[in-house]
Amino acid sequence: KQAKLHVEKDFRVAQVDDRLFSSFLEHLGRAIYTGIYEPEHPLADANGYRTDVLKLIQQLGISHIRYPGGNFLSGYDWKDGIGPKAERPRRLDLAWHTIESNQFGIDEFYDWSQKAGTQIMGAVNMGTGTPKDAGQLVEYCNYPGGTYWSDLRAKNGHKDPLNIKLWCIGNEMDGEWQICHLDADDYGKKAVEAAKIMRWIDDSIELVACGSASTMQKTYPEWDRKVMEYTYDYVDYLSLHRYYENEGNDFDFLASFVDMDRFIHTLEGTADYVKALKRGSKDINFSFDEWNVWYQLKQKAHPWQEAPEILEDHYTLLDALVFAGMSMTLLNHADRVKIACLAQLVNVIAPIFTKKGGGVLKQSIFYPFAYLSKYGRGTVLKPVVTAPAAESRYGETPLLQQSVVYNEQEKTVTVFALNIGAEEMQLTLNLRSFGEVTMQEHICMAGDLSAVNTFAQPDAVVPKQLPVQQGTLRTCDVVLPPQSYHVLRFK
Ligand code: AHR
Repeated sequence: KQAKLHVEKDFRVAQVDDRLFSSFLEHLGRAIYTGIYEPEHPLADANGYRTDVLKLIQQLGISHIRYPGGNFLSGYDWKDGIGPKAERPRRLDLAWHTIESNQFGIDEFYDWSQKAGTQIMGAVNMGTGTPKDAGQLVEYCNYPGGTYWSDLRAKNGHKDPLNIKLWCIGNEMDGEWQICHLDADDYGKKAVEAAKIMRWIDDSIELVACGSASTMQKTYPEWDRKVMEYTYDYVDYLSLHRYYENEGNDFDFLASFVDMDRFIHTLEGTADYVKALKRGSKDINFSFDEWNVWYQLKQKAHPWQEAPEILEDHYTLLDALVFAGMSMTLLNHADRVKIACLAQLVNVIAPIFTKKGGGVLKQSIFYPFAYLSKYGRGTVLKPVVTAPAAESRYGETPLLQQSVVYNEQEKTVTVFALNIGAEEMQLTLNLRSFGEVTMQEHICMAGDLSAVNTFAQPDAVVPKQLPVQQGTLRTCDVVLPPQSYHVLRFK
């Protein structure tokens, strides 16, 4: 099979927002407890934060981390997680059938974020929570001092405001599984009232309204239209969530990026419709604040317990390829997708996996995310693509997924490419608009699609450096083996 990419320096999509390289930590399973926080662990610091986990997180170059949920958010009272730890209540978390000890809350997360070098994307409860609770949380976090909630923050160890500038108004409120799920009208009205209160307290914050939890939702995309109609004047972003899993056909699974691409495309149209209806001048941009591979069909019931081992998916090379395809879709929509959170970060559907009291492991998806974050910064270009196609569950599907990022400061061009076909592909890159370039690197992930990293075999799925073409070049031919992911770098 043959494919061609004609890359033109001036065909610009957009500058990539750093917040595209964000992630998510929920009070769910072992994400927090025995994930990032495990006071009894030999490598825990004085605050109980696992330093081995922190080191791996730092390698991912993450911008923001969304916290504390997720479905957990819709039953969570943030006030349970502040003050002296011995006095914090143990509660039933109805979202995940778990006992929440509340030994970790917003103050601990702030301290941890400082160590991780990440910023916080906060979230307010729109299930059991009220707009008043939402305002009190913003006051606790961001108001300088001299009021009840800001003084309480100082008493709890943070004299200076936490300055959380980005907030989600609820989580997946379109989902019937959500605690106190709402219909679009009720959510739209509640979100507006919460947004007004939150902004009156701190007018420098940015807000994200709940969009559809998936393209599979019966209410998609009507939910999104209605929510944007209510919230157009009050929020900055609409959230999008999407997970994929292998339902038995590898090619359909590899084609997931097509569905993700259409999802964003549809909501661009919906957002533009609302803008026109409102006679508005601002665009509603998107926060794709949950994306990943997730084997939801494999979830099992479990008894009430603290930090259970749930949603602990072990990712194969095939999962990493699907994940890489999704990451390229996000880059290609950099003009509208300003925030994206890999869901999640540790243990729960995550690139990093820990053993309680033991070691830490990079899952297969760790690598495509690390490359996305390292080389996906700059300006996304729109190449002219000629590629073979085949039928998948999403209709005609290109066998090549790609994204091109030009980093003007470093004068580097990165081509991310994914061959989802079962045959080798000859890819010709036309890079003439950059003059003469040299090939810096060719990173590749390919091989046994079922391979998984384990503590016994931590390097079963790792990227390989392939030989680069020597000398200066204007065009470059590369061979993409069947079902393979590539990072091609030029300068
Ligand atoms: O990330 C796991 C769950 O997926 C989140 O709690 C929820 O928002 C989504 O359904």
